[in-house]
Amino acid sequence: MSNKAVIVTGAGRGIGLAIAKSLASRGYDLALVDIAEDTVREAAASIKGDGKYVPIAGNVADWDSVQTMVNEASEALGPIYGVVNNAGITRDGLVLRMKPEAWQQVLDVNLTGTFYFTKAVSPLMMRQKIGRIVNIASVIGLAGNAGQANYAASKAGVIAMTKSVAKELGGRAITCNAIAPGFIATDMTHDLPEQVKADMLKSIPLKRLGSAEDVAAAVAFLLSEDAAYITGQTIVVDGGMVT
Ligand SMILES: NC(=O)c1ccc[n+]([C@@H]2O[C@H](COP(=O)([O-])OP(=O)(O)OC[C@H]3O[C@@H](n4cnc5c(N)ncnc54)[C@H](O)[C@@H]3O)[C@@H](O)[C@H]2O)c1
Repeated sequence: MSNKAVIVTGAGRGIGLAIAKSLASRGYDLALVDIAEDTVREAAASIKGDGKYVPIAGNVADWDSVQTMVNEASEALGPIYGVVNNAGITRDGLVLRMKPEAWQQVLDVNLTGTFYFTKAVSPLMMRQKIGRIVNIASVIGLAGNAGQANYAASKAGVIAMTKSVAKELGGRAITCNAIAPGFIATDMTHDLPEQVKADMLKSIPLKRLGSAEDVAAAVAFLLSEDAAYITGQTIVVDGGMVT
C-alpha cells in the first residue's frame, strides 16, 4: 500500500483527535469519524499535513451507520489499512443506582461499536491480506473501578474481543491489538473532583497524568511496520499505575 488510510473513531476531540494529528504527521490519510458532526468537520480542517483528512459523521453504535461510514471512507481514501476504535463514553454510577439505560449505552458505544467497525473492515482487510485494528480500552477494563461497572465491563470486553479477533484474522496478516490508557488529561477526566485527581496522582509512579499524545504514540507504533509481529496484545499506557 502506498498511501495508507486509517479510520479513527471518536476523532472529534480528546484522545481521538490527538491520534489523528499524530497519524497525519506520520503520513497517513485519515477518515475522522464522530457522532458530533460540526466538531468532526472542524477537527478534520484543523489537521496540518499533505494527506487527505475526511470528516465522517455517524454513530459507531448503529450497524447501518457504521457500514455507511466505512463505505464513505473507502470511496474517499481507497483501501483501508487500519482502524482505530477510539470512540467511547462513560455513564458512571454505583451498580445499586445505575439505570439499565446507562449500562446499555456504555456497552453499545464502547463494546458493540468496536465490534461493528471490526466486522465492517474485516472483509476489506482480508481481501487486501493486510490490516491493522487498534482498540482503545482502559486500565479500568483490567482493574475495575467502583462506580464504573458498565465502563469496566465494556473495556474488559474490548480486551477479550481483541484477543479473539487476533486469532481469527492473523492468517491474513491482519493484527488486532488494544491500548489500555490510565489517567489521561482530556475533557472526559477534566470534570473529576480535585480530590479524586489528587488521589489518582499519588498512585502514578511517573507522577503525572498521561497526555493524549502518550496514547497516540502507542497507536502509531501498533500501526507501524515495527509492530508487524505483535497481535492480540494490550499495551498499558498508564505511567505505571496498574501493575
Ligand atoms: N480520558 C481518559 O483518561 C481515558 C482513559 C482510558 C481510556 N480512555 C478511552 O479513550 C477513548 C477516548 O477518550 P477521550 O477521553 O478522548 O473522550 P472524549 O469524550 O473527549 O472523546 C470521545 C469522542 O467520541 C465521540 N463519540 C461518543 N460517542 C460516539 C458514538 N456513538 N459514535 C461516534 N462517536 C462517538 C464523542 O463525540 C467524542 O468526540 C475512549 O474510548 C475512552 O474510554 C480515556
